[in-house]
Amino acid sequence: MFEGKTILTGVKPTGTPHLGNYLGAIKPAIKLGQEAIANGGKQYMFIADYHAINAEKNPEILSEKLKEIACIYLAGGLDPNKSYFYRQSDIPEIPEITTILYAYTPKGFMNKAHAYKAAVDKNRAAGKPDDDGINMGLYTYPTLMAADIVAYDTDIVPVGKDQIQHVEIARDIAGSINAHYNKELLHLPEYYVDEHVAVVPGIDGRKMSKSYGNVIPLFEDDKSIKKAIFSIKTDSRPMEEPKDPEEILVYQIYKAVATDAQIQEMGDGLRQGKLGYGHIKNMLLDAVVNEIKDAREKYNYYMAHFSEVEGMLEEGAAKARPVAQATLKRLKDAVFGR
Ligand code: ADP
Ligand code: TRP
Repeated sequence: MFEGKTILTGVKPTGTPHLGNYLGAIKPAIKLGQEAIANGGKQYMFIADYHAINAEKNPEILSEKLKEIACIYLAGGLDPNKSYFYRQSDIPEIPEITTILYAYTPKGFMNKAHAYKAAVDKNRAAGKPDDDGINMGLYTYPTLMAADIVAYDTDIVPVGKDQIQHVEIARDIAGSINAHYNKELLHLPEYYVDEHVAVVPGIDGRKMSKSYGNVIPLFEDDKSIKKAIFSIKTDSRPMEEPKDPEEILVYQIYKAVATDAQIQEMGDGLRQGKLGYGHIKNMLLDAVVNEIKDAREKYNYYMAHFSEVEGMLEEGAAKARPVAQATLKRLKDAVFGR
């Protein structure tokens, strides 16, 4: 898939990633990049720290979250030598490109962008003025994201459903610039949503999300993971009562981490009344720990040796910058008639 294509992923360093983020976004993004690279394509993977400052103003928190997210991608198997792995804020051409794109961004696009609309809705629900606490960074966020994408002639942007609209905005802005100058100054990106990636439920049955506080932590010690797993909601039916596994939350989460044979085994045990809730929670714990154990070791290593990671990010920026510089030059030449 994606032969010869350039794939780009940006992640905001906000919140500590949980098992749902890891299985639903981080691992699939790394895998997709590996496939692209193996087929003559490229993978850009960057940490969107300019996007993060719209919401997070504390430098210590920002740098800690950046550290975590960088180490998680490396732990998950991102190869910094084969991909372009960098910090958004290390590429000064991105804000320059953004400024040019602003001139082609209809204000109405920003009014409709759903990161902004969600913030307005939240204000309305709280009885506050529409734009309360909303800064220009949040309002114009899709244009910065468009610059991230077009800077590297990106073909494909793998996203969760919530980001589709932002990639479409990027495509529209690039399209209007090309149409205005009547040449392909900017490559038109497409979004890609992986329908096979399941939404991992949290310990209360809603989607696992940091905003619901229902997460299974990722790289904490076994004790914290066990604590989360043993607080997954169950009912008081006795073990012997045959149960439909699909109605059982532990089983639903298990499906995201276990092998087919393991899933079958738990399903049969529940249907036949041979497995109790204690058993299946232990099975889930083993599967989660097994899924993350190698990555957790690598994660702890990189967190303890972050200067190595710093070096990788700097090298990544040095590799990525010339590409963004070429795009900026193309744009400036056209815009200013140089
Ligand atoms: P959260 O809901 O914890 O705030 P984000 O909205 O920051 O997570 O999502 C970051 C990425 O992780 C997105 O690509 C999103 O699709 C993915 N993701 C978040 N929660 C889950 C989940 N429960 N299952 C699968 N993927 C998820
Ligand atoms: N807006 C994305 C998010 O909130 C992060 C992001 C910034 C991004 N720039 C990007 C994603 C470019 C893909 C491509 O998750």
